[in-house]
Amino acid sequence: MRLSLRFVVPLLVALGIFAYAALPLVDRLMLRWFSRDLEVRANLIATTVDDPLHTLIRTGDRSRIQEFFTRLTQDERLFAVAFCPPETGDPVATPTLPAEVRCSDLGRFTEPAGDLLQTATGPVFISVRPLVGGGKLVLVHDMSFIARRSRETRDYLFLFFVGLGLTVALITVVIAQLSWRGWVQGLRALLRGEGLLRPSGKPYVPELRPIARDLRALIRDLEAAPRRLDEDHVAWTPDTLRTLLRGELRGQEVIVVSNREPYIHMRQNGEIKVWRPASGLVTALEPVMRACSGTWIAHGGGSADRDVVDAHDRIAVPPPPAPPAYQLRRVWLTEQQEAGYYYGFANEGLWPLCHIAHVRPTFRTSDWEQYAAANRLFARAVADEARSDDPIVLVHDYHFALLPRLIRESLPEATIITFWHIPWPNPEAFGICPWREEVLDGLLGSSILGFHTQFHCNNFLDTIERLIEARVDREMFTVSYRGELTAVKRYPISIEWPASRAATAASVEQCRAALRQRHGLPEGHAIGIGVDRLDYTKGVEERLRAIERLFELQPEWLGKFTFVQLAAPTRTRIEHYQQYQARVEALAARINERFKHAAHPAVILRIEHHEPESVYEYYRGADVCVVTSLHDGMNLVAKEFVAARDDNAGVLILSQFTGAARELPEAVIVNPYDTDQCAAALQLALTMPKEEQRARMRLMRELIKEFNVYRWAGRMLRDAAGMRRRGRLSHSAVAVARAAL
Ligand code: F6P
Repeated sequence: MRLSLRFVVPLLVALGIFAYAALPLVDRLMLRWFSRDLEVRANLIATTVDDPLHTLIRTGDRSRIQEFFTRLTQDERLFAVAFCPPETGDPVATPTLPAEVRCSDLGRFTEPAGDLLQTATGPVFISVRPLVGGGKLVLVHDMSFIARRSRETRDYLFLFFVGLGLTVALITVVIAQLSWRGWVQGLRALLRGEGLLRPSGKPYVPELRPIARDLRALIRDLEAAPRRLDEDHVAWTPDTLRTLLRGELRGQEVIVVSNREPYIHMRQNGEIKVWRPASGLVTALEPVMRACSGTWIAHGGGSADRDVVDAHDRIAVPPPPAPPAYQLRRVWLTEQQEAGYYYGFANEGLWPLCHIAHVRPTFRTSDWEQYAAANRLFARAVADEARSDDPIVLVHDYHFALLPRLIRESLPEATIITFWHIPWPNPEAFGICPWREEVLDGLLGSSILGFHTQFHCNNFLDTIERLIEARVDREMFTVSYRGELTAVKRYPISIEWPASRAATAASVEQCRAALRQRHGLPEGHAIGIGVDRLDYTKGVEERLRAIERLFELQPEWLGKFTFVQLAAPTRTRIEHYQQYQARVEALAARINERFKHAAHPAVILRIEHHEPESVYEYYRGADVCVVTSLHDGMNLVAKEFVAARDDNAGVLILSQFTGAARELPEAVIVNPYDTDQCAAALQLALTMPKEEQRARMRLMRELIKEFNVYRWAGRMLRDAAGMRRRGRLSHSAVAVARAAL
């Protein structure tokens, strides 16, 4: 609008000045035109009246001459007529002849051009014409009509210029607006590549609308590319993750699915308590969800879980006093479903199948059916929770091998990232599974399938090649199956850095003192810790045997070193787990019995649920942390111990069969099956100089700091964003090709 005013006002002013300057010119022009006209008329009248006038003159009848003249002046413009005889004789004139016109003084009027004369009655035009018969005819034309015409003309001219000005202004403004907008839009469209889609003059093709939308999104992505986070050069924090979600994924909705929920509401002595489960998955994902918001769908397994959810089975978490950051949507399973899906197929079938821990998998058809039913239940929950048709869904773990395919069926546009938290076995081992094709088909519904290590990615591709009809690209690490592509990638999981507990935790000295006091141990007493779910894959028996061996080989440690094993009960309905717990308890008891004469126990076994704060205190107060898993996808206990040691002290003993061993070579790496080696590692750890502890710990802390859980999640989400971009590009290319056909 302002632009229009700036243009219109000067235009009107200029036109006004122009009109004002033009008026005298118009007056002059009109006068000249009319004068010429009057002269022509005067000639005509003179020629016409010459003969009859002389005939009348010859009669000498003045009254008839006057009558003749009066008839001539009937013409409204002819005001007066006079005849001036040559030298002698009286002039004859109409009474209207102005006094200023005298026959004796005709010389002042030009001939043949007439002259304008101002008289008392107004302006008149005098034409003097010599007659053939002698004498002169004086014709006086009234010029007041010219003034009238001139006034009218001025008015018309004024109105004309005003009209012209307004019209020009209006047209100019409209055209300027249209063309500016059009130009700008055109330019934008061109920059967005729309020109390619809608060439000017060609009709809009509605079928191209989705392609145009995809291309626009793609162009926005490409525009964002320079701003894209350079993974290696940023410090990965919750904010980095949020920026990534807002930037590269444009606030895309994130839905997480796992069996284990991050908060369990339990009824204890009439009160509702909140438990945080002993789960590496939860440890890793919880801080990520706090940063991303979104919805976490999980099995509601707590005794008070139903009492605290809303009508849609949702609850905002974390619970007070922390501010709520995301939604937890609980899925309910019947006893029978849980038995078949969780305890049965997942934990008696897939779990031992994927871990080399020498426990045979058990596969039952009834378990498989419950597993499939539970996966369908979770797929429905995902569809319920999805607010868009293309959410990012993060499916976690071996409980949901069928879920990616089911989600793909209900939400074909979704980007599905499946993360397999446990090892993937070789094809021979996996081939044991009676529903191997179904499991693989389900997993290949994922856009991205992640494992902790490259070794497990390789095992997966080997399995695909061996067991189903799919095309494996070893260079790109993709599987092409049923017309869809699944990228198989390595994403070593990690933990929150810095630990949120670090800010409020007691000092290392206080933690050391608290532990010793709790267990009745003297100051300076060496403490080793193990923190695990009581799972046969964790190598707790092997660990205890190594402790026993240490005391055998280095009896000077008796009474001076105690190993505390925190063991969270897990999957206790499964016979193998019950037997395992019994064996561990018996072993600990036997070792303590064997060394009962020592001043302090060799082993303290705590089989119970431990809250993360308490575990953190053990990490900080211990001298050695022992992780002896027989097979483990990653093992986050190792990383949590290192993260807790901001004093750069303490030694980590780590099984070579964990994913973590590939990232933390500064730990004391052991083969848990080699009892002597493990005992030697304990001896090495307990006697390791502080300086060496610091050097090792620093390196390990650096690594975890750099590759924390935000980076783990960030890499997956970024790959998802890239995949969406590429998906849009190939969709658009196919659609353009189709439209062109
Ligand atoms: O190791 C696989 C895993 O899913 C971990 O991610 C998690 O720590 C653990 O198993 C939890 O087991 P559960 O949920 O059966 O207690």
